[in-house]
Formats: sequence, structure tokens, C-alpha cells
Amino acid sequence: MSFKCNKDFIEEGDVVILYINPNNMHQIKVKDKIFNKKGELVDNVFQTTYGALKVISLIGKKYGSKVDLSKGWAHVLQPTPELWTLTLPHRTQIIYTPDISLIIYLLDLVPGSVVIETGTGSGSLSHSLVRTIRPNGHLYTFDFHEQRVSLAQEEFKSHGIDEFVTVSHRDVCTQGFGNELEHKVDAVFLDLPLPWLTIDFVVKSLKKSGGKLCSFSPCIEQVQKTCEKLASKGFIGIETYECLQRELTVIQKNLPVLDLLSVKNTVNFNSFTNESLNKFLDPVKLTTVAHPASTPGHTGYITIATLPPDFARVTEEG
Ligand SMILES: C[S@@+](CC[C@H](N)C(=O)[O-])C[C@H]1O[C@@H](n2cnc3c(N)ncnc32)[C@H](O)[C@@H]1O
Repeated sequence: MSFKCNKDFIEEGDVVILYINPNNMHQIKVKDKIFNKKGELVDNVFQTTYGALKVISLIGKKYGSKVDLSKGWAHVLQPTPELWTLTLPHRTQIIYTPDISLIIYLLDLVPGSVVIETGTGSGSLSHSLVRTIRPNGHLYTFDFHEQRVSLAQEEFKSHGIDEFVTVSHRDVCTQGFGNELEHKVDAVFLDLPLPWLTIDFVVKSLKKSGGKLCSFSPCIEQVQKTCEKLASKGFIGIETYECLQRELTVIQKNLPVLDLLSVKNTVNFNSFTNESLNKFLDPVKLTTVAHPASTPGHTGYITIATLPPDFARVTEEG
């Protein structure tokens, strides 16, 4: 499967990204027939703003190649977690790549890490987590919404990454993560409305040698409650980040620059005035940057904390 390894040519069953432009791309499963709205089995023809694509015609095409649409063209790309995040079917709010990259970095994830994630949601973060921890790590992802659990399971299987991820249907705030994960995991990630309710279970699941917790919350009140709970349970290094992207545009600007050599050789410093310097100002073309006119939108606060080894923990209970 193309999510798991690179391959040269498209095969039946692959998920491909049909890339039209940076703001117009789609994920397509390569299969001959699909069911239409009336439940009839029909030829799989994908409609885009540049016309139709007969999906089965992709088989045998080289990944990266240009393909014809009925009114234009597109490129067919291998799926990556980043492209999946941009094209996946939304079942919930999702986490996007800038936040995902910070989360993975802050959690110290590497191939071999054992990680808990909850809730699974639309599986946007899950795909990036799996890529980071495989081939010998494992992701345990939980959601209390039954349909989201089964759809995520189907997607992981269809993307060929199901051996690296276990999806469970459970309310983690009341039931935790299960005895089988007790003191087995390196890191826990929470994207929940009430993350502080899981912290006791998080402590139970992290290895006795310690581990990391990361929580994503849109509101600062959620962050406050989570941080208080984390501190009471002996977590240290509790920090909250906001990942804001600011795009700086490179521009050319004419700026008046003082010709200091001429000033030194000509100006009589006894009769020095600001005006006398004006004639030494030369317009110089400089390459500089322009700052964006608007501020980027808020997605969520990313709180990171470390649980020290159990012998070194200081909790509120002592
Ligand atoms: C915002 S979505 C997660 C999106 C996900 N991070 C992604 O990138 O696709 C939050 C999910 O948490 C689940 N959830 C909320 N409370 C839960 C709980 N107590 N136990 C398990 N899942 C829960 C919801 O069903 C929802 O699917």
C-alpha cells in the first residue's frame, strides 16, 4: 500500500492524491466501480472543477505523473500524512500539520515509541503519529464515538497501516486506557473537551521510568484546569504553546542610507546640523520582508508536561 511504502506505479486499491493546485486536491481510492446514491453499482468517475476522471484509468500510471481530466489536467501523488490531513473526510474538527509537527517534536516521539491518543476523531493526527513511531512502535487510539472508531479502523486497514495502530471504543474519562496498557506507554496525547479527567489514568499508563503528556485544547480555561491537575500529580516542565504561522513576504524597498565616508570627509562637525546630513542620504535598494497585514487564526493551545520516574515524583498527596 502506498501509505506504508513508496512505490512507482498506481495499483488497484491504492489511495492516491489528485493534485490540481495547492487549494484544490482530493483523495481517491482507485477502484473500478462504486455505489451511487440510488445504491446502484456504477463506473467510478471522479468529478473535479476541471472535469471528470475515470478512476480506473489511473492503474499503471506512474506516481507523480500528469493525468488528463475532461476539461484540464492534474497530477497523481502518493499519499502522505500531510496530504491526507488536507484531503481526508472530516468527521470532527481535526489537527493540522503545523500543530502536528510541534506535538510530535514536544512528545519526543521516535520509531519504537508506544503512544496513546484520544480522541481518534477523523484520524488526522493518527496518520502522522503512525509514520513517526513505526516500524516497531505502536499507537493505541481511543474514541467514545462508535462510528468514528469503525471508520478509523477501516481507513487504517485500507491504508495498510493497521498493524501499527489499535483503535478502541471507550470513554477514556470514566474507563481510562485499560489494564493491558498499565505502565507500558512512552507518551499520551489528548484532544478531548475535558482532558483533566483522564490525568489519573495517564499516570497509570505511562512507564514507571516516566513519560510525556501533551494536551490540545482550544480554550485557555481547559488549559488552566489541565495544568492544575498535572501539577498536583507530580508532572514537571508544564508549558503551553500556541503554534502561529506568520508568512513574511520578501520585498525590495528603496531606503535612504547615509554615505558615512562622504560625511566624514566633508562635514564640519562644529557647524553640524541634522539638515546638513540630508545631502548625504543615498536611496539604496534593499531586500527586506513585509509582515502580514492580518494575524493568523487560533487553532488550539498545546500543553506539554513530563512525568518524572516514579521514585522522583512529588505529588499533592506527598
Ligand atoms: C476534536 S476530535 C479529535 C480529532 C483528532 N485529533 C484528529 O486530528 O482527527 C475529538 C474526539 O474526541 C472524542 N471524545 C470526546 N470525549 C471523549 C471521551 N471521554 N472518551 C473518548 N473519546 C472522546 C470525540 O468523539 C471526538 O471524536
